Amino acid sequence: MSSTLWHGRFAGGPSEALQALNDSLPFDQRMFREDIAGSRAHVRMLCDVGLFTEAERDGVLAALDTVEHEIESGSFDFQVNDEDIHTAVERRVTELDPAGAKMHTGRSRNDQVATDLRLWTRSAIDEVLELIKRLQRTLLTHAEQAGDAYLPGYTHLQQAQPVALSHHLLAHGWALARDAERLVDARKRTNVSVLGAGALAGSSLPLDPEKSAAYLGFDAVFDNSLDGVADRDFVAEVLFALSLLGVHLSRIGEEWILWASTEFGFVTLDDGFSTGSSMMPQKKNPDIAELARGKAGRLIGHLTGFLTTLKGLPLTYNKDMQEDKEPLFDAVDTVRLTLLALDGMISTTTFNTEAMAAQAASPYAAATDLAEWLVARGLPFRDAHAVVGEKVRRALAGEGSLRELVAADPQLGADAAALLEPGVSVTRRTTRGGGSPAAVADQIERFRARLDR
Ligand code: ARG
Repeated sequence: MSSTLWHGRFAGGPSEALQALNDSLPFDQRMFREDIAGSRAHVRMLCDVGLFTEAERDGVLAALDTVEHEIESGSFDFQVNDEDIHTAVERRVTELDPAGAKMHTGRSRNDQVATDLRLWTRSAIDEVLELIKRLQRTLLTHAEQAGDAYLPGYTHLQQAQPVALSHHLLAHGWALARDAERLVDARKRTNVSVLGAGALAGSSLPLDPEKSAAYLGFDAVFDNSLDGVADRDFVAEVLFALSLLGVHLSRIGEEWILWASTEFGFVTLDDGFSTGSSMMPQKKNPDIAELARGKAGRLIGHLTGFLTTLKGLPLTYNKDMQEDKEPLFDAVDTVRLTLLALDGMISTTTFNTEAMAAQAASPYAAATDLAEWLVARGLPFRDAHAVVGEKVRRALAGEGSLRELVAADPQLGADAAALLEPGVSVTRRTTRGGGSPAAVADQIERFRARLDR
């Protein structure tokens, strides 16, 4: 018959309503590997400091192996009083080996759960980093293959200046690079052990927190036991990093939706990465891109929800903090699925470079280059802007095509008018990080180096 971990102090068992609200096993069993790894490290440390004999240690380690195998294979018999994964593992280890009753020496579920979640988060970060890299490589491959293709660049979603397609694709790649950097940074603060903080105040036993930290591959150890068990900054930071990543994926999604529309026609989606309509036979819908856009809302919700949970909590551990896991798990799952699907959609996208070029062909899109052409010949930019602006106004008023008006102007003439030919202006913005294919060649090198780092 199993009982609660705290049955000694209580006359009766827990009510059903309490169990239903309180139990975290349904979601925290997902951390069983981390919980078992934490217990292995703790038991090894206890033996190192003389609180376990070697025989006890080896017995408990063997029982932990059995438990891990049972959970992995689905044969583990979870019981009603297993309120969380920590309880379940300890209960079963003790059934297998009575020395399991010593396993919780100098440990509380407060330092245990924080340690488990840090281990879980550390590997989740590594997984997300791999998936980000994968999408970045897909963008890079398309950028390399884009050659001299160009499209209108936009501000206010109004055609602004033509840019190389490779330039546009890598813009998303650089945003993802910052997301990766943020996760790498959050990983440093995640990779800190809190095992040994106890319930909140450390221990009167001769524990060695640095030892258990080393067994678990943590880079650092808590400095203050109260902060150790109360700190969930790493969860909030990762939720933020994933939310901003989600925002970037949403923005990519939004562009793909626009580009796949009949009105833009810049891309064609692969059938395997688009959906149809139940009623309208002609439809092909960019559902992946829409979900990438939609999922960002959910990620931001997890971040704001969890910050709200944390905001008024007094030191140290409070049961409110059990609310850390579901949003974190869901955010990681959501980002993982979105990155994978978006990568599939983008890697199989066909770019309709003729449609892009046709949209970028408007001579108006070269107006800025025309003004810069005048600047290069000594005119102050404000005056150059006015000269070109006047041509644009007259062309729009129907006094002639922009090309004719430019060619007829003594300050401009035929050489300047040649800039308005399709595909010419895009080649001219060759400054570092600029939008011409020549400048992008350089950028591609830097992007590749960053990815390989
Ligand atoms: N299931 C709990 C959680 O996820 C574990 C810690 C419980 N600690 C306690 N003092 N009741 O936060």
